[in-house]
Amino acid sequence: MKSSELRQSFLSFFESKQHQIVESSSLIPGNDPTLLFTNAGMVQFKDVFLGEDIRPYKRATTAQRCVRAGGKHNDLENVGYTARHHTFFEMLGNFSFGDYFKKEAIAYAWEFLTEILKLPKDKLLVTVYAEDDDAFDIWHKNIGLPAEKIIRIGDNKGGRYQSDNFWAMGDTGPCGPCTEVFYDHGEHIWGGPPGSPEEDGDRFIEIWNVVFMQFNRSADGTMAPLPKPSVDTGMGLERIAAILQGVHSNYEIDLFQNLIAASAKAVGTSDLSSQSLRVIADHIRSCSFMIVDGVVPSNEGRGYVLRRIIRRAVRHGNKLGQKGTFFYTLVDALDIEMGEAYPELRKLKDRVASILLKEEEQFAKTLDQGMKILEEAIANLGDKTVIPGDIIFKLYDTFGFPYDLTQDVARESGLEMDVAGFDEAMEAQRNRARSASNFAMDMSGGVRIESITNFTGYDHLEGACEVEMILVDGNAVEAIEAGQSAVVVLKSTPFYGESGGQVGDQGWLRGAGAFKVTNTTKQGKAHLHHGELKEGRLAVGDEVTGQVDRSLRMATTLNHSATHLMHEALRRVLGDHVMQKGSLVDSERLRFDFSHFEGVTAAEIEQIEDMVNEQVRLNRPVETEIMDIEAAKAKGAMALFGEKYDSQVRVLTMGADYSIELCGGTHVKRTGDIGLFKILFENGIAAGVRRIEAVTGKAAIDATRQTEAALNNIASLVKGNKDSALDKVVALNDHARALQKELDVLKGKMAALAGADLASQAVDINGGKLLVAQVEVSDPKALRDLLDELKSKLESAVVLLAAVNDGKVSLIAGVTKELTKQIKAGDLIKMVAPFVDGKGGGRPDMAQAGGNNPAGLAEALAAVPDWVAERV
Ligand code: ALA
Repeated sequence: MKSSELRQSFLSFFESKQHQIVESSSLIPGNDPTLLFTNAGMVQFKDVFLGEDIRPYKRATTAQRCVRAGGKHNDLENVGYTARHHTFFEMLGNFSFGDYFKKEAIAYAWEFLTEILKLPKDKLLVTVYAEDDDAFDIWHKNIGLPAEKIIRIGDNKGGRYQSDNFWAMGDTGPCGPCTEVFYDHGEHIWGGPPGSPEEDGDRFIEIWNVVFMQFNRSADGTMAPLPKPSVDTGMGLERIAAILQGVHSNYEIDLFQNLIAASAKAVGTSDLSSQSLRVIADHIRSCSFMIVDGVVPSNEGRGYVLRRIIRRAVRHGNKLGQKGTFFYTLVDALDIEMGEAYPELRKLKDRVASILLKEEEQFAKTLDQGMKILEEAIANLGDKTVIPGDIIFKLYDTFGFPYDLTQDVARESGLEMDVAGFDEAMEAQRNRARSASNFAMDMSGGVRIESITNFTGYDHLEGACEVEMILVDGNAVEAIEAGQSAVVVLKSTPFYGESGGQVGDQGWLRGAGAFKVTNTTKQGKAHLHHGELKEGRLAVGDEVTGQVDRSLRMATTLNHSATHLMHEALRRVLGDHVMQKGSLVDSERLRFDFSHFEGVTAAEIEQIEDMVNEQVRLNRPVETEIMDIEAAKAKGAMALFGEKYDSQVRVLTMGADYSIELCGGTHVKRTGDIGLFKILFENGIAAGVRRIEAVTGKAAIDATRQTEAALNNIASLVKGNKDSALDKVVALNDHARALQKELDVLKGKMAALAGADLASQAVDINGGKLLVAQVEVSDPKALRDLLDELKSKLESAVVLLAAVNDGKVSLIAGVTKELTKQIKAGDLIKMVAPFVDGKGGGRPDMAQAGGNNPAGLAEALAAVPDWVAERV
């Protein structure tokens, strides 16, 4: 049975058991920053298990794309070296949401395996969680499996519920005991049954995991029972395909054989058994699907995992002798294997290939540069045999050159690595990074500020505040005098400190002195007011009135609220893959970076603007609530991946659930306050990342006004009005084109005339004519035309023309064919050019030069006749 048939037969079987077939979800789990990648079929149903999401069905079945690289379930380093580990695989699953439980789940699994797939019963054995007598009994009594084929597995992984037979999605979330079905690949393969000392062998392979979801584990380890016991199962498509196709390793199944053959071709090897080919074939799947789902290579989070996998694949290609780019070419082969089942891959395959190619090229540069440095270092070793730790570190840290590659080179050159030195340099770097990051955060210059400022600025732009601390050049001082710059910390403040993309507030602190705040930042929970004391004196303990610059803050606030509305509109118009990659909100504009593969079209821009402006006109209230993070997620709040949130978060809801996001920024009271939303431009800033800049409120009106003013200016220039301007400009353009044509004709005629006139100035030389002249021609093309004209008129001639424009000399030499035996235009030009401080060259019949010294031109021209006479 082919992999594709297997996928279909699984879904159909469960459909016949009243399961809804649900599409595979993205590899990027929606709304779950705790999880790096979708690592099991149940991920898209997590909230359904928790009872926080209700679907119109109680039974579902999926073929889910999964990645296990990074995070709790990480198989990366095993890939290629075992028969069945992958970074990417497909999980076939059936799910019950409070519907059926253990009895049916086990019966369905057995029926599918033994009656549909017709696996021999004596080849199957199972494990159950040691305490799960129910599961044991169902296997034994209902199914009829002999007791010795049912193995109980307890907490074998060092802790309560830490067991191969207790499954958890991650450190938190739904979990429960499970029963696993194993297939015996036969005595000829080494390994023992689960629970035995030889269980890691490849003889007994787990094929299906049936989880009885019963608990929700929270961050502190408590296990709360789920509202309704449920079922979550997972069967690796590749493993079961291997059994059905009578092969032992997943890499021998149809799908992989084709990918491996394509990989071999791409790297130029014929040894299909190479483990490196398996690595490449595996990695093209995870990398392509990650990109399809919106991940781009980068230095953090998911992007970093992707980058590592790409680089690992490239390294394995290099190992097999492929020094050029190759990985990206495999996307086509992957499309042939999987494009049918995953139309999103087919649709985006060119984009995927181009992102992979870019990354390969980038990595090649890194390797190249690193190799040079390494080779040089090795050459400098003399008779020493150890590569110093600081060099290995420099390669690794500054040049991104992989450590294991340095290791390979060392091994190949019979050298050793100074590992201790490397570790030392690494540690030093960590310390530096630590203090650097403190430094960056610590705008006050080094003092650790522990205080917690009470922020009153959500509701007030002005308020009485007590000065808690004053810092000058990073040192705490008691007071400052007029003219001094400082950082002021207050016990409470209405000033928003730069965070979450929103800039810090500006304004005044007024008391005995007047301190102008030019920026507010945050360090920990303290707000730092940066600025200068303009008059009077300011001392610790003073009462001041903090006054936030109202108009700047209001404008910033409008932009921030509009950012949320736009974020949601982007997801609705472009798709769920849109994820925030960066955001900057100030009083002038909002800037938003997000993942998306292609340019946003003008029509989409309009749609996004319309959607946001519609929300603005609906003028709905904007609400903020403080709640715990779990409740926020349950509410569907969009959180940024990789962002660390406190356990209590601020949830911002706009337009009656139109947009729900976690956000600490300042926002409008009603969406109508935004007034008007207008996108100024959209462009790409990195592979797969787009940027939009937009304006709101008065700035949006100003922007449309500017456009209008520009149009009015154009209209008045073409003596029309707004309505007629376009037609007039089109007419003007046509007219200009017609004039240009006419002009070209005239120019040609003039050149011909000038040519005739010039031709008459030619003097006789042996075998033809010589013409040397300075002409009034402004562009190089016209000069060449004139030369051609003269050459054809004079038939057999040597011609040198010069023109001076803006202090620059243009020279052109031409020699008719038969004379090129004696005189080459290139030689002539090389002779004259130095007179005008120029250089040049060309063919025997035509050569050109430019020069910067018109003063030498007369001498240059005068030198030509003798030079020519000597040669004809
Ligand atoms: N969620 C279960 C697993 O991944 C089925 O093994």
